[in-house]
Amino acid sequence: MRYAKWTQIGERPKFKYKKDELRFDATVLDYQDYLTKYMGKLPPDLSMYIRSRSFHFLETFIENPQSHLEGTAMPRTGVTAESAEKVLEYLDHVGDPSRAERTSVGIKVMIYLLIFAVFAYLWKKQVWKELH
Ligand code: HEM
Repeated sequence: MRYAKWTQIGERPKFKYKKDELRFDATVLDYQDYLTKYMGKLPPDLSMYIRSRSFHFLETFIENPQSHLEGTAMPRTGVTAESAEKVLEYLDHVGDPSRAERTSVGIKVMIYLLIFAVFAYLWKKQVWKELH
């Protein structure tokens, strides 16, 4: 989950020193090598997956990966419907983390424009009253 800063060994911390960052990256690469040896393929980065495919695609994919990708190296996860829902919610959030903020700002902007329009209308009436 690149955009959520998640790696195969957990969350990617902020580094003060370059050598710590390089050490971390080297460990991640080692783990990726183990995974590739174990699974035959490295699981892909899923940060934007829910946007590039769809909610429904992932829902059915988690349930049965072979139904979408015959012969895929991904095993059936066997998660409960409740857990699958949580996974999807998480993927949805990572795919568009600023959606909640955007919605709340959008509503405030609309309210501002509405109030502004009322004042603009009253002002226009005031100005034209003298010209008629
Ligand atoms: C519920 C959690 C999971 C989700 C949402 C998920 C989702 C996905 C998706 C969307 C793909 C890409 C399919 C494509 O190429 O279009 C994929 C591939 C893959 N996943 Fe998962 N996965 C999950 C759990 C796991 C687990 C637990 C494993 C390993 C034990 C795994 C191993 C893989 C592998 C190896 C691939 C590459 C498959 C291939 O290209 O043949 N996944 N996964």
